[in-house]
Amino acid sequence: MDKIYNNKNSLNFPLKILPKKSNPFLRLNTICPYYTMFPLDFPFRVLRKANSKEKVLDPFCGRGTSNFAARLRGMESVGIDTNPVACAIASAKLVHTTPEKIIELCKMILKSKKKPEDTPIGEFWDLCYHPSTLHQVCKLREYFLDRCESNEEVALRAIVLGTMHGPRNKKTPSYLSNQMPRTYASKPNYSIKFWEKNHLVPLEINILDIIIRKAHYSFSHLPPSTGGEIFKADCSYPLNDCSVYEFNWVITSPPYYQMKTYVQDQWLRNWFLGGNPEIDYSVKGQLSHSSQETFVGELGKVWKNVADVCAPEAKLVIRFGALPSSPVNPTELLRASLEKSNCGWKVLTVKYAGSIPKGKRQADQFSKNVGEIQREIDLYAVLR
Ligand SMILES: C[S@@+](CC[C@H](N)C(=O)[O-])C[C@H]1O[C@@H](n2cnc3c(N)ncnc32)[C@H](O)[C@@H]1O
Repeated sequence: MDKIYNNKNSLNFPLKILPKKSNPFLRLNTICPYYTMFPLDFPFRVLRKANSKEKVLDPFCGRGTSNFAARLRGMESVGIDTNPVACAIASAKLVHTTPEKIIELCKMILKSKKKPEDTPIGEFWDLCYHPSTLHQVCKLREYFLDRCESNEEVALRAIVLGTMHGPRNKKTPSYLSNQMPRTYASKPNYSIKFWEKNHLVPLEINILDIIIRKAHYSFSHLPPSTGGEIFKADCSYPLNDCSVYEFNWVITSPPYYQMKTYVQDQWLRNWFLGGNPEIDYSVKGQLSHSSQETFVGELGKVWKNVADVCAPEAKLVIRFGALPSSPVNPTELLRASLEKSNCGWKVLTVKYAGSIPKGKRQADQFSKNVGEIQREIDLYAVLR
């Protein structure tokens, strides 16, 4: 048996019951926060009647919560997202490696004498990272822009993404940046004003120390690999990459109507993955939200594309809600989009997700700039 399962925390996989949140086998799921992620117990619960030979698809996979739930259930899964940050985090949910291999890779990259060719400059960068921390971040960035294929590379890249920004810790630092939220990167001008007003200068952080801790935390106890892939793609176009699969389960949560700034909210992590060193509002690739009708039509295309790669009798489970600034009826909108897809999705039931305890709903991930979310629903459909 592989050494990493042979310890007092071992579990019998595939899991039938989700262990306590503190169980070390669930740690990989929290490797990097993502705006509007849904709680792990939602896809895990949906899959309770699934057979481990069946396959799972999430066409709006975000940080890969459905993929990780499928792994715990012993199932192969595929995730799709247009956001490079989402794809990088979700890919790490499928890897199999050890903390030692990740740490060795990190040491090798940081030791290299090669100077980074591209270091961003300006007031934001001076105040966000200590110069020596930024130098190390740029080294890692340039390595991953060149290659990120092995399990260790995918794992290390996700750990770095998870540490890019977050609150300053008085004792052992967990994040590389000056004070920032961890779920999204605040805007440069706002950040500069905040740091200046509060006299916050960036601390010199030892990246390797953080990586060593996080690699052990997230990768010491991994569920067995079950295979699968994450694709960076727009699911409103035919899912050609998935044509070899026949999915039995689709568990997903589309962006809520008018929620279209996923890449911009993650602009600092997106820069690490090769994006611009400032917020780029021209980044496309999200569903069109120009009107409710257009949005319904776009979602309809997604359900049709998904049906094309599903087995007969496949189950579709969608968590959906609405922003207070665009108070649409989530049930009506989803039903209209499924009708529009005109490809055999039959709605079985719609339930409120609101009965889930506070702190566990996807809505709880939104920050105050989006406001209080309307009630979320879970829609269950089958492909007939
Ligand atoms: C509500 S989030 C999903 C969060 C996910 N359930 C999780 O737990 O992390 C919706 C996701 O849809 C992605 N998205 C938006 N338009 C897309 C499109 N046309 N194709 C694929 N993904 C898209 C966004 O980038 C975002 O990550």
